[in-house]
Amino acid sequence: ELHAAKEESKLVSKYECQRSTPLHHQNENLTDALSAVEEEAEILDRKEDYSRALAFCKAACSLKCLTKPVSSIQDIKGLPNIGDHSRDIIKEILENGFSREVERIKNDHSLQKKKMFMSIYGVGPSTARKWVDVLQLATIEDVINCPSINPRKEARLAYGIAFHEDLKQQVGRTTAMRIRDIVHNELKTLDGEVTVEVTGGFRRGKQFGHDVDLLISHPVEGRETGLLQKLIHRLNSKGLILHGVMEESTFSEEMLSKSSKLTPKGQLDHFEKWIGIMKFPKNLETTPQDSVRDRKETIKDEFKEEGKKRIKLDHSLTVTDHNHIGSGLQEQINKSFQKSSTSYSPSPASLPSSSDLSELVKLAQSEREWRASRVDLIIAPASQYAYALVGWTGSKMFNRSLRLYAQRELDMKLTSHGLFDMKQRKPIQASSEQEVFEILKLQYRNPEERNC
Ligand code: CTP
Ligand code: MN
Ligand code: MN
Ligand code: MN
Repeated sequence: ELHAAKEESKLVSKYECQRSTPLHHQNENLTDALSAVEEEAEILDRKEDYSRALAFCKAACSLKCLTKPVSSIQDIKGLPNIGDHSRDIIKEILENGFSREVERIKNDHSLQKKKMFMSIYGVGPSTARKWVDVLQLATIEDVINCPSINPRKEARLAYGIAFHEDLKQQVGRTTAMRIRDIVHNELKTLDGEVTVEVTGGFRRGKQFGHDVDLLISHPVEGRETGLLQKLIHRLNSKGLILHGVMEESTFSEEMLSKSSKLTPKGQLDHFEKWIGIMKFPKNLETTPQDSVRDRKETIKDEFKEEGKKRIKLDHSLTVTDHNHIGSGLQEQINKSFQKSSTSYSPSPASLPSSSDLSELVKLAQSEREWRASRVDLIIAPASQYAYALVGWTGSKMFNRSLRLYAQRELDMKLTSHGLFDMKQRKPIQASSEQEVFEILKLQYRNPEERNC
């Protein structure tokens, strides 16, 4: 039926967290266009003013939850969060097949350069604008050779520039699961009961990600303390760490009743964590078992991409399953891993001691058997685990909506640490994600439905 989306539009809830938002959907031509405009706003607008970008993002979110393609502007009558500007873009695409604004963005060389620079780890909009508009830089080589850029002060940026080739390459799902296993194996030598979960985009069903987000916990409250330091020490002695920054926990009970403003260091929460770059054997993704699995997933993805059929996510292929790979495969990983870790890894002492950019560029361009990947390691105490899992699964937009909903509709403060009832002035414990949704009086959404 041609206008099937019309009936649906009227039923879409106000908050994104009240809807099911799959990774792939029926209106990707429209949401891709809105994302392009959102991205431009994010790059060009003043620091801290995300309102314009947010408006495009919210409009795209509304379209993502429709299960039918929109064929006329009448179809989205009643659909929440579609502003005038977004409506104009949608209308033009429906009528002409393209949007002049999106075409202009695609052909804006200055913007595209800024976008490219923002794919460097450690570069945000203001740095990207400065490099293009003030310093007139166009390529990574320009950055490396620019005398007025001194990343010595900021190690993260130096590594980001030097290893851009590695880091811009997305991490595949198989690699993410391997990285989890490697980290878990090291943790097991410290404490057999430690748990490690892949969160972020992979948990929401994505096949690729810009990093691997690992949430680490222990069933016994308090036993998680000190683990991260020891873990990093072990990983480092195996030559698996390229660069990273440790953040101590800054959590205290009073924070439960406060909104989750950015911490002084720019983090969204107060967990102890390690944000960095790890080194992995290049062959991590190439065992026969994996290529079969990857092929399966690629086929599945192509089906969805072409929108031939709406295929429900096959749960046998989701994260939970990957987490329990057989012990034979595990042994294989360990072997390939140990073999290469002795041959490729420089001892910690032979790593460049400063973040001298040219030294790092030399290292990046040298013959090596490893590739660099971004990894986030987060430590959550058992009592906060359910909330931490929701927070670190995302998406960012889903979290934003959950928090707004909790505040406006229930007078409760939701963070990755817990939920605080403002009326009764007390925190509410939850031991699972299901329970978190229950307390919030929301229908439970699988991670795969949180892709807004
Ligand atoms: N997050 C957070 N605090 C941070 C960074 C991230 O709570 N300091 C949450 C975000 O809300 C996000 C999740 O952790 O939902 C993962 O963040 P990120 O890796 O940035 O995004 P992904 O959704 O995993 O996307 P990608 O595949 O690009 O990594
Ligand atoms: Mn897609
Ligand atoms: Mn991620
Ligand atoms: Mn991350």
